[in-house]
Amino acid sequence: MLRSSALSSLLLLRPLLAYGRSAQFLVDADNNIINNMNTRYTLNLTVAGTAVNVMLDTGSTDMWVAPPGGLVGATTDSKTFAEIAYGDGSNFVNGSVLWGEVDIAGYTIPQQAFINVLNSVGEEGDEASGIFGLVGLGFTGPDGSIPAALTAGGFNGTDVGKPVLSSIYAENPSKGQFFAFSLSRVGDVNDTADASLTISDYDPNYVAVANSPALPVYPPKGGRWSVVTDGITANGQTISWPSFDDSLNATGQNAVLFDTGTTNFLMPAAVRDAIYSTVPGAIVSRNSSISNLEFSEDNDVWVLPCNAIVNMTTIFANLEFPIHPLDLVDIGVFNAPDGNNYTACLGSVTNGGPILGPGLDALYGDSFLRNVYSVFSFGNSSMGPYVQLLADTDTDAAAADYLSVRAEQLAESPAEISPAAFISIYDGPNAVTSSVAGGPTGVVVTTTGAAPTLATTTTAVPTATGYTDGSAISSDKNLAADLDSSSSSNDSWGKWGPIIVGLLATNLLILLLVAFVSVMTYIRNGRKAGLPMSDKYAGAAHQRYVPVKLRDDSSFVPPAETLYDDEDHAHGRYSD
Ligand SMILES: *[C@@H]1O[C@H](CO)[C@@H](O)[C@H](O)[C@H]1NC(C)=O
Ligand SMILES: *[C@@H]1O[C@H](CO)[C@@H](O)[C@H](O)[C@H]1NC(C)=O
Ligand SMILES: *[C@@H]1O[C@H](CO)[C@@H](O)[C@H](O)[C@H]1NC(C)=O
Ligand SMILES: *[C@@H]1O[C@H](CO)[C@@H](O)[C@H](O)[C@H]1NC(C)=O
Ligand SMILES: *[C@@H]1O[C@H](CO)[C@@H](O)[C@H](O)[C@H]1NC(C)=O
Ligand SMILES: *[C@@H]1O[C@H](CO)[C@@H](O)[C@H](O)[C@H]1NC(C)=O
Ligand SMILES: *[C@@H]1O[C@H](CO)[C@@H](O)[C@H](O)[C@H]1NC(C)=O
Ligand SMILES: *[C@@H]1O[C@H](CO)[C@@H](O)[C@H](O)[C@H]1NC(C)=O
Ligand SMILES: *[C@@H]1O[C@H](CO)[C@@H](O)[C@H](O)[C@H]1NC(C)=O
Repeated sequence: MLRSSALSSLLLLRPLLAYGRSAQFLVDADNNIINNMNTRYTLNLTVAGTAVNVMLDTGSTDMWVAPPGGLVGATTDSKTFAEIAYGDGSNFVNGSVLWGEVDIAGYTIPQQAFINVLNSVGEEGDEASGIFGLVGLGFTGPDGSIPAALTAGGFNGTDVGKPVLSSIYAENPSKGQFFAFSLSRVGDVNDTADASLTISDYDPNYVAVANSPALPVYPPKGGRWSVVTDGITANGQTISWPSFDDSLNATGQNAVLFDTGTTNFLMPAAVRDAIYSTVPGAIVSRNSSISNLEFSEDNDVWVLPCNAIVNMTTIFANLEFPIHPLDLVDIGVFNAPDGNNYTACLGSVTNGGPILGPGLDALYGDSFLRNVYSVFSFGNSSMGPYVQLLADTDTDAAAADYLSVRAEQLAESPAEISPAAFISIYDGPNAVTSSVAGGPTGVVVTTTGAAPTLATTTTAVPTATGYTDGSAISSDKNLAADLDSSSSSNDSWGKWGPIIVGLLATNLLILLLVAFVSVMTYIRNGRKAGLPMSDKYAGAAHQRYVPVKLRDDSSFVPPAETLYDDEDHAHGRYSD
């Protein structure tokens, strides 16, 4: 049935010029979620008396920690050894499976199983960000690294190797088996710090989510947080694409996975192209020498005018969930081959390549989840696992926000030149003329309703300025200058961090990898050279990604245990 190549784990690095007013980390006042530059969402937990800042990952299940000073408190050593491998196996964490007390999100688990990491390869990025562990929030299965290691060691792995959520639910049988996320966005006008993770409870700000339709996990026994979407619209056009799943393809629907461990939207290349093709002035450069600012399976780079709004809406259960344009475009300062520094805006929806596959048509990471309040339920005795979403972005407010933020950034950064001029510097003039999307397969773009209005609904006084290369600049730029001029622009923007990105995994082994050696090299060099991390020129242009490699592992089996089973309902097990 399912194969591991359908989905695995992903570690990504995203150099990013951060936005205006924010510090690198934002901590919600009433919760403990830490937003690391919109790319990692972490929390402080205590394990064996030791505080550790860990990533939260809906895409994987097992817990591991690697605190620099070791664990100070009592633990029990299972004398078993587990490894979570990334990609081709050259990057991984490994270590002993221990039991110890874990305090997380208001719960105390007396004997939680976790990997006490002895060796890791490729975790430098997280460590540089002060992140020394991971808690998976995915589905339970006997083949997870920890349960499998314990079972091999003679224990009942599914029993004593339970992941964190299962431990909490087992201790609190009367509570609902769900958790819920609000992910903050740093860098928008309101610099929203309202992030929360609640377990078996809702954030009081979002209790209305209870009225949202339950989106059943699809495939029903896929053992991961994917659901059916009715598609997307971008700037007034409906974009649909063929599903890997025949029955979804027949109804024009798609299966998408929600992963807190992935930064952006990972889509088929043709869908990415269809989205940005709707944006006036946007140009793609194929196989570009410009570095994408997000992980991508190819080197196609979409360059957009920094004032162009991508007005994209995702649709679930026939309800619209608008996406903030800041979540669809990244801004960066590039040290270009001509020796000059330029500011450019790049599309952040990128090509998921073979990460997508049977059962998975797209991957919606933090870029999506910032726009909703999301409830992830493992189901109950009468219903299988499902997700509920509450829309949290208003298109008009978000568009104004976008223009305001960009205006502030552009005012403090090197010149933006036109996308064509920018691409030409990197890839030559031919790249510009040959850059029009070439025959995407199966993607249907239909105009729905009125032509895109962008933000022209906002009144603006044009102040004729153009790109410094002499080409015209669209009037939105001038709009931007007029918006929110009262807001503070004292803080330097252009802070960017050791931006890490996504981690996602099946309920089984983590299989996928991004090497970020070059970026880490930069970070180390930057520090050595005494560059503050807030240096606004911190070099997006210096980064290249090593492509993700998928380990071709055909041993994937569906999760053998879910809380719900079609045949015997609650707490059933099944196997394929
Ligand atoms: C998390 O824990 C570390 C280590 O104790 C501490 O330095 C840091 O301030 C904490 N951060 C938050 C947001 O609580
Ligand atoms: C754990 O990882 C290290 C590399 O960091 C490797 O040398 C060692 O062999 C691994 N241990 C096992 C038991 O695989
Ligand atoms: C393992 O423990 C579970 C309870 O957590 C139990 O249902 C199962 O039968 C046990 N398996 C074995 C092989 O003992
Ligand atoms: C999806 O459906 C279309 C039209 O029915 C068909 O042409 C296409 O081959 C299908 N794609 C897949 C991946 O099944
Ligand atoms: C992409 O460009 C590189 C050189 O920059 C070249 O080696 C490679 O063959 C190109 N790939 C494709 C698919 O054109
Ligand atoms: C580009 O930015 C870098 C980093 O701040 C700086 O060292 C360099 O002088 C700039 N180059 C130009 C041409 O302004
Ligand atoms: C299961 O969850 C659904 C959706 O939240 C709810 O409507 C239903 O009442 C629950 N059933 C039980 C038995 O708790
Ligand atoms: C910012 O907050 C204000 C006040 O709560 C609200 O009216 C406005 O819509 C928010 N802006 C955005 C872009 O969310
Ligand atoms: C975005 O599109 C929606 C409809 O798809 C429309 O209602 C809204 O006004 C648009 N907003 C902007 C700022 O273009």
